[in-house]
Amino acid sequence: LLTCILRPLEVPYRYLFGPGPSNVPPRVLASGSRPIIGHLHPEMYEIMNDIKKGIHYAFQTENNMTIAMSGSGHAAMECAVFNTVEPGESVLIAINGIWGERVAEIAERMGANVHKLVKAPGGHFTNIEIEKVGKHKPVLFFLAHGESSAGLCQPVDGIGDICRKHNCLFLVDTVASLGAAPIFMDKQNIDILYTGSQKALNAPPGTAPISFNDRACHKMFNRKTKPVSYLFDMTHLSNYWGCDGKAVRAYHHTGPVSGFFALRESLAILAEKGLEESWRKHKEVAAYLYRGLEDLGLELFIPDKDLRLPSVTTISIPEGYDWREMLVYIMKHHQMEMTGGLGPSIGMVMRIGLMGYNCEKTNADKALHALADALKNCKKSKA
Ligand SMILES: Cc1ncc(COP(=O)(O)O)c(C=O)c1O
Repeated sequence: LLTCILRPLEVPYRYLFGPGPSNVPPRVLASGSRPIIGHLHPEMYEIMNDIKKGIHYAFQTENNMTIAMSGSGHAAMECAVFNTVEPGESVLIAINGIWGERVAEIAERMGANVHKLVKAPGGHFTNIEIEKVGKHKPVLFFLAHGESSAGLCQPVDGIGDICRKHNCLFLVDTVASLGAAPIFMDKQNIDILYTGSQKALNAPPGTAPISFNDRACHKMFNRKTKPVSYLFDMTHLSNYWGCDGKAVRAYHHTGPVSGFFALRESLAILAEKGLEESWRKHKEVAAYLYRGLEDLGLELFIPDKDLRLPSVTTISIPEGYDWREMLVYIMKHHQMEMTGGLGPSIGMVMRIGLMGYNCEKTNADKALHALADALKNCKKSKA
């Protein structure tokens, strides 16, 4: 009965060239294997303070209310919505792929009055379109900066000002874009920003930086009802992260100690490299990948290259091919993960992610070689 668990753990090496998780550099892997210390030890508080500083830099913010969630990107999505919205309040969600759909569902589940601004995957929202929706009087407007299911990088300039005019909080998802495409939380008047650990940051999955500015804090700390989640309640989390000015940081939950070590190192690597260099590198490698894909006769799903997400590239499924068959072939023969679409983009695209540590022209060459091989060898479904 126990044979399987008694076998030694085996984990294959994979080229993680999909939309995440990405491969993790040895320094980050090593940091996660340090001895466990208590989640309330002074050394841990220092590490958490370092993480906060690293997030300040990565988000380009000075917000005091800056923490990392004990959980994946979804934990940050739920934390943002649960804390800033009360049941019955209106929210507006921009949907152009799966991430808007998810946030809309999260908001619906906690009893918000959800309005949707919908586009087909790959479409982007103009400020004029966003301006019109003040009529719903939303308390929160959600947008994905890096729409990883479609490979779109949504421009955000000016939207924070529109939200202020309508007395609405501006919530931005940068799980797939942080470190790969420029974002300036304070300068762009973004009220709540979150990301994930496992994409361009190259930490293991399971922690998620999030930051709230004063406008967001004012709304979330002056509510009539308690947030539906105890675990994600920012009253407690702000104390756990030493953001509430109280002398004592009390027990709330046991944070993922090793995950925080790894997150700290990944933020340190980004700070050492510099954001500008990281953005430049992602753009350069992505442009190199686009040329190679076009040389293979493949069509990029987002026609305007200025709107493409540098970390996750989407290609239209080549005519006559079964995308599942191609992905299985690439995994089997090249030990390489690429993926299909997600949510509304399923059947429309294949996705190639080269993020952070993986963002190198040599890796783009490996991905292109694997794709060329699949194009040659995968039987055409409609011959
Ligand atoms: C843009 C975006 N938002 C949110 C998420 C959710 O993150 P997680 O899978 O870590 O919960 C992802 C994950 O792929 C993402 O790409």
